[in-house]
Amino acid sequence: VHSNVVSTQTAHALYGGVVPELASREHQLHIVPVVDTALKEAGISKKELQAIAFTRGPGLLGSLIVGVTFAKSLALSLDIPLIDVHHMHAHVLAHFAKDPKPKFPFLCMTVSGGHTQIIKVNSALDMEVMGETLDDAAGEAFDKTGKMLGLPYPAGPLIDQYAQKGKTKYKFPKSQVKGLDFSFSGLKTAVMYFLKRETNANPQFIQEEMPHICASIQSTIVETLLEKLSMAVESTGIKQIAIAGGVAANSGLRDGLFEMATEQKLEAFIPEFEYCRDNAAMIGITAHFKYLENKFCGQDVSAEARMPF
Ligand code: KG4
Ligand code: ZN
Repeated sequence: VHSNVVSTQTAHALYGGVVPELASREHQLHIVPVVDTALKEAGISKKELQAIAFTRGPGLLGSLIVGVTFAKSLALSLDIPLIDVHHMHAHVLAHFAKDPKPKFPFLCMTVSGGHTQIIKVNSALDMEVMGETLDDAAGEAFDKTGKMLGLPYPAGPLIDQYAQKGKTKYKFPKSQVKGLDFSFSGLKTAVMYFLKRETNANPQFIQEEMPHICASIQSTIVETLLEKLSMAVESTGIKQIAIAGGVAANSGLRDGLFEMATEQKLEAFIPEFEYCRDNAAMIGITAHFKYLENKFCGQDVSAEARMPF
């Protein structure tokens, strides 16, 4: 990885979540400076580029269109091939940014604000989804329950910070979905009723109990995630487990993953945070594998908000 420039949009914090229209406008503003900075940091000129890779989907259509259009124009003007990348494949392949790298096959649980999936990774370009969320993503579960606690968006990192100072004093129900799929909407409702009841009795409840409430929410989410990952290990016999996506930064999940690895004699992998959250390096790494197999796309390619895995 020669450079990995991230432009974080702060405009959404005011609204308690990502506003799609604002996101695409911010993309338009930042895409040229970000590409220029990336080239400068890498010490590479545009003429040296061998291909242009971009995220085709899934995601917010407006933002994807900005990236796809820009990538197509750049590839056309430089007369080099285009490589379309699936966002969720890229989260998995972020594990190849640096050593230690997992060997194939491995199981990767991708946990972000938009996705929660358990993926069986047979090779760089051959992966299958074993389980996924039926409603909210793990990151959303953090962000939405955090919002109920009055925490700003994204609440995940803040819940994590409070949780480290608290105890799992309260019990929230875990989803009863069978198999390897997830559901987090029940937790949201349970937390809402719990807070309503407790703040009726004591209006200062949230302020007084914040670390314990956060620790309890976090452990519910983490236990749910790890139980399913454990089931996937059991059903496949695969001994290498990995996590990726923004929620992989969560201290409870990281500790829990390594504990699980020790207990079950598995090998655990977590990329550095810079490669866990949404980033360009993971798109480039995926493109590298596709380039080796001559998997390019044409100028007729378009963005896909919902893209099959
Ligand atoms: O992968 P990502 O950067 O963007 C996408 O959603 O694709 O993930 C962002 C998500 C947000 O929901 C954020 O709250 C969550 O990752 N997150 C965390 C932590 N850091 C980021 N959730 C829990 N604990 C954290 N430390
Ligand atoms: Zn992502």
